[in-house]
Amino acid sequence: MPSALPIADPAPLDGALPASAALASVDRNFGVYLHVPFCRVRCGYCDFNTYTSDELRGAKRTDYAGQAITEIALADRVLHDAGIDRRPASTVFFGGGTPTLLPATDLTSMLHAVVDTWGLQPDAEVTTEANPDSVDLEYLLALKEAGFTRVSFGMQSAVPHVLAVLERTHDPARIPLVVRWAREAGLQVSLDLIYGTPGESFEDWSASLDQALAQQPDHISAYALIIEDGTKLAAQIRRGEVAMPDDDLQADMYELADARLAAAGYEWYEVSNWARGAQFRSDHNLGYWVGHDWWGIGPGAHSHVGGVRWWNVKHPAAYADRIAAGHSPAAGRETLDAETRRVESVLLRTRVREGFPIGELASSGRTAVAGLIADELVDARAALAGRIELTLRGRLLADAVVRRLTD
Ligand SMILES: C[S@@+](CC[C@H](N)C(=O)[O-])C[C@H]1O[C@@H](n2cnc3c(N)ncnc32)[C@H](O)[C@@H]1O
Ligand code: SF4
Repeated sequence: MPSALPIADPAPLDGALPASAALASVDRNFGVYLHVPFCRVRCGYCDFNTYTSDELRGAKRTDYAGQAITEIALADRVLHDAGIDRRPASTVFFGGGTPTLLPATDLTSMLHAVVDTWGLQPDAEVTTEANPDSVDLEYLLALKEAGFTRVSFGMQSAVPHVLAVLERTHDPARIPLVVRWAREAGLQVSLDLIYGTPGESFEDWSASLDQALAQQPDHISAYALIIEDGTKLAAQIRRGEVAMPDDDLQADMYELADARLAAAGYEWYEVSNWARGAQFRSDHNLGYWVGHDWWGIGPGAHSHVGGVRWWNVKHPAAYADRIAAGHSPAAGRETLDAETRRVESVLLRTRVREGFPIGELASSGRTAVAGLIADELVDARAALAGRIELTLRGRLLADAVVRRLTD
């Protein structure tokens, strides 16, 4: 089962935002996230909000694009009623699930609804995630034609026995093909990798990095495998059928990734992300990390506008019911007070290359800086210049650094 949603205040059925949202939203970039909650099969490690059936308690996959477009209209109404001027979207991101499991015409009509409603900034980034076995050249050409600029493929590994433990169904030989097709279509390419899978050796990881770099993608995300509660992989580990990933090996793998990617001309800019130049960073994800506004469309999607954060009902059938009744799909929300916003800002911006000003820390956080420098987690020279920036070791222990800065 996918993970549970946070508990907070119920959201009103019309989705109306409090007046405070309008004040806090002035001058912020606006992003749109569209969640597509379908996959052909569920990978054993994944706890994303995604479903494999074509029809869920009467909610049909073929009706999904129409429901998302109805929520876009509702979003426009809610923002207008809150007194927030229309802002062209600076980023649009289709994630999942596997958005490319839907026909390209569905992704096109959802993107066009965003564009017709809010417009796009001239240099807007429009991304879809894709599973390597769910696209071909024709599909990618249709995405480019629709206005997409970027595709992010879930490669995960190049090594068959690692892909087997992850229960990935794609053939690794497909990666060079889909990357070539995406380039032919004129799309930027990002590859997602996972390291630390049970049974994956240092050499396996090195081979996956080689294969990823051989494709010369514009951007690479490398995630340490997280064993999520409730997944099939977590149960296999609990029963002793597969080994728990080893922390030290995962740390060595991260260091190898950083060295190999840096040598190939990729700059790290967030703990798990590297780009072939600043223009290839994921602006959409940076928007989350620096606290911009975004509206998340779809079941379980999260939104943030002007210090108000909310999340939609999780199940596609519950979502379809709310939309059909003309109600907001929002399930719960919280209005962040100034202190929570400050702590979250430290939490998110610690992870990005530019870090943040030491002056924004509470006094206990400022006191912790000397210890973090002594432990080689925070860069001494940047700290002298008044900024918190993580060292390589600090990136590996980013969560612990954040705790010491915000305790
Ligand atoms: C929604 S998926 C990407 C698109 C597509 N569904 C796919 O998997 O090819 C987003 C990414 O999250 C990462 N991911 C998912 N579950 C993870 C976990 N338990 N640990 C680490 N990374 C994970 C994977 O790298 C995956 O590519
Ligand atoms: S294809 Fe992607 S979203 Fe779907 S189950 Fe696998 S990792 Fe999760």
